[in-house]
Amino acid sequence: MDITATDEWAALAEHHRAVGARTLRELFAEDPERAARLTGTAGDLHVDLAKHRVTDETLQLLVALAERAGVPERIAAMFRGEHINTTEDRAVLHVALRAPESVPLTVDGQDVSADVHAVLAKMRAFADRVRSGEWKGHTGERIRAVVNIGIGGSDLGPAMAYTALADYSDRDLTARFVSNIDPTDFAEKTRDLDPATTLFVVCSKTFTTLETLTNATVARDWLLASGADESAVAEHFVAVSTNTDAVAEFGIDTANMFEFWDWVGGRYSFTSAIGLSLMVAIGPDAYAEMLAGFHAVDEHFRTAPLAENMPVVQGLLNVWYTDFFGAQSHAVLPYSQYLSRLPAYLQQLTMESNGKSVQADGQPMTTATGEVYWGEPGTNGQHAFHQLLHQGTSLLPADFIGFGEPNHDIGEMHDLLMANMFAQSAALAFGKSAEEVSADGTPADVVPHKVMPGNRPSTTILAPKLTPATLGQLIAFYEHTVFTQGAIWQIDSFDQWGVELGKVMARQLAPALTSETAPDMDSPEIDADPSTAALVAHY
Ligand code: F6P
Repeated sequence: MDITATDEWAALAEHHRAVGARTLRELFAEDPERAARLTGTAGDLHVDLAKHRVTDETLQLLVALAERAGVPERIAAMFRGEHINTTEDRAVLHVALRAPESVPLTVDGQDVSADVHAVLAKMRAFADRVRSGEWKGHTGERIRAVVNIGIGGSDLGPAMAYTALADYSDRDLTARFVSNIDPTDFAEKTRDLDPATTLFVVCSKTFTTLETLTNATVARDWLLASGADESAVAEHFVAVSTNTDAVAEFGIDTANMFEFWDWVGGRYSFTSAIGLSLMVAIGPDAYAEMLAGFHAVDEHFRTAPLAENMPVVQGLLNVWYTDFFGAQSHAVLPYSQYLSRLPAYLQQLTMESNGKSVQADGQPMTTATGEVYWGEPGTNGQHAFHQLLHQGTSLLPADFIGFGEPNHDIGEMHDLLMANMFAQSAALAFGKSAEEVSADGTPADVVPHKVMPGNRPSTTILAPKLTPATLGQLIAFYEHTVFTQGAIWQIDSFDQWGVELGKVMARQLAPALTSETAPDMDSPEIDADPSTAALVAHY
């Protein structure tokens, strides 16, 4: 189905012509109750949608669109383990990774629930051994540093969460995350580490990713160069993968491999064994609380009616702005320094999922998909890019994320932080008119420069405190928002074919760059265009 050819889409287009220019000032003046009415909850998340450019009718029309697109059926199909990732013919079951053991689930003849909990038990035992000092390096010393080697979905989740949950981590252990094939990454992350007390967790779903295998090889050489012999590899390397053969071939004992499955997409794999380094850092109990947080919002998404289903409504609002207002980007503004890596994490989740220009059936998209996600923690962003948010020419929806209670209660700092967050969303929504600016005594020629147009929409998400559980809820909220958008657009949000060509071309070019002699750039094996050939020659 082409969603843009439906009556529901046409009704929204018509409605947009009628209400698109209405301002948040007008909408609030007419209906002060909207603040209470357009607020909902998902788990412990208080989600305020009142500062969106919508009326009750907009939301009804968006929900009708979701029904027409089959969002409820698609949610049910995901939870049943159907192969909704059609281009790879796979189930999409990251929700099973955080479901309690009592929830039975068999997919393609596999008892998914039993498998998930067997791996979780193995992770827990391993994390306890490392944290207690029982797991020793080759010199008999306890482990002091856990270095996660992985990239994309095998890095961003645990890296983001390690920063987010630093307050819950064991400060006698350090975790590092090496992802880039830039040698700087490995060099800087290991420069103050002792090989004898360092444990590498090599994470790769496929175990074929160039960056990860290169970094893992460099890590093994680093260990061996310290005087350790080959047998030390077993004490200093574990792997997380779906590919047992490749793990064995690399030389990691498969007894030290933590498995996951092809029904877990890379960017949805954070709650699989990919979270192992995080579990070591924060401990199995805090990790279990995080999984329970994910599950709470999974259940909300599975069971709440569409109009009260917060990830669904947020996803629909994103479609509203992308397709009817022409918005191209989306700011994520956590008012928490601990969430500094959240925008980077969300970039992969959203953009690798919904950055598509064909529908699942291969037909070209007839409307825009996939916003550019970006952001920084407040208040830092206020002193950098908020100028554009307030007075720039593009419509740019934003998410504000804040917490009731701080992790560090120092004077009035947290209250001041939150005062800034509330002020920003209000200033974006309501602005300051030319009359108001003039009334302050501003000279006439400066007035236009000080006018704040307002009418810039935002969601505010408030949670009681940043904990493992609320972090899990927040990430599940975003995962399901992405799912909803993909379902509306009728795209496969679970493949990422667009990243493959660049990988193939890099592999093709690599010999020309690594060769000791000047490469023949005209050779058919290299097959480079004139611009690239000239750049390689210059390099
Ligand atoms: O190149 C993109 C990608 O395939 C991501 O989807 C994935 O998260 C990342 O690479 C890492 O893949 P792997 O876990 O197989 O090493």
